[in-house]
Amino acid sequence: MNRRKITEKVFSVGAVDWDRRLFDSLIPLPDGTSYNAYLIVGSQKTVLIDSVDPALKEVLFSKLEGVKQIDYIVCNHAEQDHSGSIPDVLGRFPLAKVVCSVKCKDLLTDHLGIAESNLMTVEDGTTLSLGDLTLKFIYTPWVHWPETMSTYLVEEKILFSCDFFGSHLATSDLFVSDEALVYESAKRYYAEIMMPFRSIVRKNLEKVASLQVGLIAPSHGPVYPTPSLIMDAYADWASDAPKNEVVIPYISMHGSTKMLVAHLVDALTREGVSVRQFDLSVTDLGKLAMALVDAATIVLGTPTVHVGPHPAVFYATHLANALRPKLKFASVIGSYGWATKAVEQLSALIPNLKVEVLPTVVCRGLPKDSELRQIEKLASIIKEKHIASGIA
Ligand code: FEO
Repeated sequence: MNRRKITEKVFSVGAVDWDRRLFDSLIPLPDGTSYNAYLIVGSQKTVLIDSVDPALKEVLFSKLEGVKQIDYIVCNHAEQDHSGSIPDVLGRFPLAKVVCSVKCKDLLTDHLGIAESNLMTVEDGTTLSLGDLTLKFIYTPWVHWPETMSTYLVEEKILFSCDFFGSHLATSDLFVSDEALVYESAKRYYAEIMMPFRSIVRKNLEKVASLQVGLIAPSHGPVYPTPSLIMDAYADWASDAPKNEVVIPYISMHGSTKMLVAHLVDALTREGVSVRQFDLSVTDLGKLAMALVDAATIVLGTPTVHVGPHPAVFYATHLANALRPKLKFASVIGSYGWATKAVEQLSALIPNLKVEVLPTVVCRGLPKDSELRQIEKLASIIKEKHIASGIA
């Protein structure tokens, strides 16, 4: 396979994983993904930026055919989808030095067994001359691990950002062509990977904004020829300002909880509040994570199973707590057969969510009129809370 030219001195040499459908045995990949690696040919030194998932290392090597020497392998991030082929690259180019952040060094030793003699650590802001080109290393922690950094090619104004700004999208497009498609994939990626670190993401954004970036070349998904597309999107997603939206993840076993959910969706719609419901028995959890990026309120809908919430609702609540979205309000609605502790158990699962807990609505068996009126009251409280918070 041929490497693809980005500029006269910069080439894409990564691999597209069209068929992968699960990442980290956790994250759905409806559109596959890519592991981007880049070759930079300076007048004196040649550099490989990141590698690829070991499963596709032969693709990388086929694109490196004819390359006589690699002097540096920049490892922006130690996770194996980017670093996993570095030991093989070192086998092919044994004189290469692996350039990484200080925190990355031990991770590469522990996770990949790379010898210390092969590693060269760089501090935040360090530059490295390739002759006619210069690399500048920018620490961008927690996008996605604590050791992550980005690499800026000064003369070409290209930012190699690794996971930061990435999208899980398999495409033959080297550059973004369908902005709406990439926006969706990048939002999914942000929601699943970056959202827990919103305040740090904002600091990293400021750092990157201080550079003159002409191209963003992430290590997942296509290259951004217009960096403002993804930088503006990140500024919106990572802000503390939610939108006038309610997310309702729910399960229904015999229809009672679904009746409550349907009534709440109707009532919220009448109140002018946007709402999205997710039946957790069939939903793609990535879609739920994306909805949580913007929502002001979450309402969990659950029947009672063995006194507690349905396990699928338990799992989704744990996930929402881990992702730390910018939610301001929360409630629980649901049903039970003869006794329940579902509300108490769900409430205990969300210590990370700095939310005001709104009234809950729980019915025994089918919802009665009084409980449907409580649902309508909940909808009006949500709207009032949104207005009072400056959201609606
Ligand atoms: Fe794409 Fe955190 O690895």
